Amino acid sequence: MFERLERAMGARLGRPCLYVPSNRFGLFIALCHWMKPGQRLLMSPISADEILFLVLAAGLRPVIAPICPRSGNIDAASVANLRFDGVLTTNMYGLPDDVVALGKICAEQGIPLIEDAAHAMQTTVANIPVGTHGTAGVFSLSKHAGAAPGGMVALASSDDRPALKELRDRWLTPRYRATEIASLVKMIARNAISGTALAQPAWWLAKAWGLQEQREGHRIALRRNALAPRLAKWLSPHLGLTALDPWIRADNHQFRMRQSKLVESYALGRLKALDRQRERRLNGVRRLAELKTVAQAVRNHLDQPLFRVPLLVDDRDRALDALRRHGIITGYIYDPPFDDYAPGLTEPSPAPEQARWWARHVLPVDPLHVDRAWPVVAALSSGIPPEVWTP
Ligand SMILES: Cc1ncc(COP(=O)(O)O)c(C=O)c1O
Repeated sequence: MFERLERAMGARLGRPCLYVPSNRFGLFIALCHWMKPGQRLLMSPISADEILFLVLAAGLRPVIAPICPRSGNIDAASVANLRFDGVLTTNMYGLPDDVVALGKICAEQGIPLIEDAAHAMQTTVANIPVGTHGTAGVFSLSKHAGAAPGGMVALASSDDRPALKELRDRWLTPRYRATEIASLVKMIARNAISGTALAQPAWWLAKAWGLQEQREGHRIALRRNALAPRLAKWLSPHLGLTALDPWIRADNHQFRMRQSKLVESYALGRLKALDRQRERRLNGVRRLAELKTVAQAVRNHLDQPLFRVPLLVDDRDRALDALRRHGIITGYIYDPPFDDYAPGLTEPSPAPEQARWWARHVLPVDPLHVDRAWPVVAALSSGIPPEVWTP
């Protein structure tokens, strides 16, 4: 399945690749392959809702790390006293995790480092792509590239590929042609209108027709009563994707559906478009980095074509409304952090305050839409009190 796309991504990354229908599916099979049910996974409190649920579906215990207030990623300097059997990075908005420090910790302990590179398709650390520093990196084709729903697992060793492929094939669901075409059309339409005057009316229509995932604030409802009986089998290796499917499928109900060559061809085209956008993205990053509200780490990564540029602002939710009126629909806000969102389901962070601040104030801005966003974002004031900064 998808050998051309695997070869194209393999050539970009310099690692053997395995196609999966979404990043979340790839993360799930990677965690099942490299970790055992009951083990503890160090992870960021700030990531997509589905990530928490796929970790639980793999039978793992989420150990929530403190975050670095400059980048919003795991603070590698603060994890020495935590106990864990594997690490999952986030590379939020394309800003890299400290893979050097985390890689060292993992190598010393002989445990896997799984990189979530969903937001970091074009990010490098020491000139090596994010997603190729650890045991495995998992990419999302629907983010940076705006390609069809899809993902890619990049492997440190091709020895792991047959077992991962078997896991993939075990958890895939059958392809429905109409569903596949509908999601492809949705993606093409989204790419065409994003950042234009049509974006806001389309957003309202999708909301009115119930096409958007229902959320309470910025997270999907936890529905603890429905979740609890499914989690009762927490330590069973059989919990799997089916039990938690209603939570894991947030925003992408086809996350584990087999796909056809049609999807592959579209994705290959979008990868080329991604390369053409690189300079525009970099210009947007540099311009947004001039703002006093920009997260500090962005200024250290002006050579990286980030997926989004995180600003930290007062009254973030009002800024979201203002951006929408300018045709910019802002996603990828993960508020509150996992340990506040799902108390009892995680081992909470020993230092949760930075994550709370970050989650409440972060405004991710698409660098490709900097011109349209500028009148709104240039007027925003900084949401971060000085005592929270530890430069
Ligand atoms: C940080 C992060 N990782 C992973 C994902 C999941 O990616 P996919 O939709 O390809 O499963 C998301 C989705 O928004 C995300 O924001």
